[in-house]
Amino acid sequence: MAEIKFIKGNPVPLEMHKVRVVQKLNLIPIDMRVEKNNQAGNNAHLLKTEDVFLDMLTDSGVNAMSDKQLAAMMLADDAYAGSASYFKLEKKAQEIFRMKYFLPAHQGRACEHLLSEVFVKNGMTIPMNYHFTTTKSHIEKVGGKVVEVLSDEGWKPQSECPFKGNIDLQKLKDVINQAGVKNIGFVRVEAGTNLIGGQPVSLENMQDVAKICKENKLKMVLDASLLADNIYFMKVREKQCLYMSIKDIIAEVCKCFDIIYFSGRKLTCSRGGGMCFREEEDYQKVRDLVPLYEGFSTYGGISVREIEAMAVGLDETLDLDMISQGPIFIEEMTRLLVENNVPMVTPGGGLGVHIDCTKFVPHIPPEQYPANAVHNALYLVSGIRGTERGTMSEERNENGEEEFAKMELLRLALPRRVFTLSQIKYAVDRITWLYENRDLIGGVKFVEEPTVLRFFFGKLEPIGDWQTKLVKKFKEDFGDSL
Ligand code: F0G
Repeated sequence: MAEIKFIKGNPVPLEMHKVRVVQKLNLIPIDMRVEKNNQAGNNAHLLKTEDVFLDMLTDSGVNAMSDKQLAAMMLADDAYAGSASYFKLEKKAQEIFRMKYFLPAHQGRACEHLLSEVFVKNGMTIPMNYHFTTTKSHIEKVGGKVVEVLSDEGWKPQSECPFKGNIDLQKLKDVINQAGVKNIGFVRVEAGTNLIGGQPVSLENMQDVAKICKENKLKMVLDASLLADNIYFMKVREKQCLYMSIKDIIAEVCKCFDIIYFSGRKLTCSRGGGMCFREEEDYQKVRDLVPLYEGFSTYGGISVREIEAMAVGLDETLDLDMISQGPIFIEEMTRLLVENNVPMVTPGGGLGVHIDCTKFVPHIPPEQYPANAVHNALYLVSGIRGTERGTMSEERNENGEEEFAKMELLRLALPRRVFTLSQIKYAVDRITWLYENRDLIGGVKFVEEPTVLRFFFGKLEPIGDWQTKLVKKFKEDFGDSL
């Protein structure tokens, strides 16, 4: 990350890469957006990209790849077993994560599936700073229970705390005492922490948690899907990391853990996943399941071309220019929105910007999915697609009652090296207009509601005719602008 000064005004985040491949974008007119939003059941996951202008749904599998990654893909060694491409990835994973054993899986949730199957038994408790949707579903599917031991600061959407993803050590100790060590499968740390706004965990906190785990002989597992952003935050926000190299920070992080897994779709700007193990015994238990669910252990369901790209992608996480690009764009977009009074999760984290919908639309109750309502409104007025991260992303409890999310967030992901500053400014303009017209936004309700991960396939409709009124106001203010 270069410290480049500007002679006039504030510096802006400056890209340390140039764009050499482009994809044409299309912004369809607002009346068509209304039609497409209805066809998609008011659900971002059911929109087609041809109807989306800026796709901020996720950074998963859609980060821009580097020239070196694309070049490496041409060298892929196609083989069912023993592919040279795999051994490159294994070597790189061992070098970065400093663990002896590595296994591939086709993506992050596949690692969660295998780890849950092996290390979670019926009735077990899995303490963690915060859950991710697929993590929780896999743990619950085998009868485990997720208990969140996030620091109080993490629950506050607006805060000055630099590491809102930290585990509260006392809460962790209490959970261990209550459940009993034998009933704890492992302690999971997600760094950065997806559903609370990409918020990081400090190295110090990981070290403290590791001490507790060691004392209690508990396994400690890292979800490193968002580790690149987290390492950047450690480097710039944490005193002990200020003069350390990225490689050394990662090494210190890894020392704390027994198992590390990641979604390569996020961490390595490619499409795959992987798990690293300190102990041979743990590795062997999981290894035997890889061919059953994923594919042979030297490809794990990943294309060999992507395996080549993963190896290079892992190496590129050591480049500060690379890992800072997401966070500094997120910080700038958050700053511009806060300047326009839009309620945001602060400080900016990794992955994307997060709009605090509890404050954006306080008139919409949680059972009417405020974050999804704001998403629908934003798509209508901008063609931007984001992701609901609130009650709609939760599952109902056994009695069929809503589990209200502690935060109602609309996430606008900024996949790395994909969007330009002018596109960010367009997004800021439309979000600001929407905030100024927030009274026009109403709630939504399910018309089709799946029982598992309902946010993927569920269909909703607006309650009342608020979308028609919103579109009318847009046309009054923007005239014939798209
Ligand atoms: N863990 C975290 C922290 C994640 O953010 C994700 C995915 C996964 C695990 C699962 O990995 O997608 O490769 O199976 N997050 C994506 C998102 C889907 O949009 O936030 P995966």
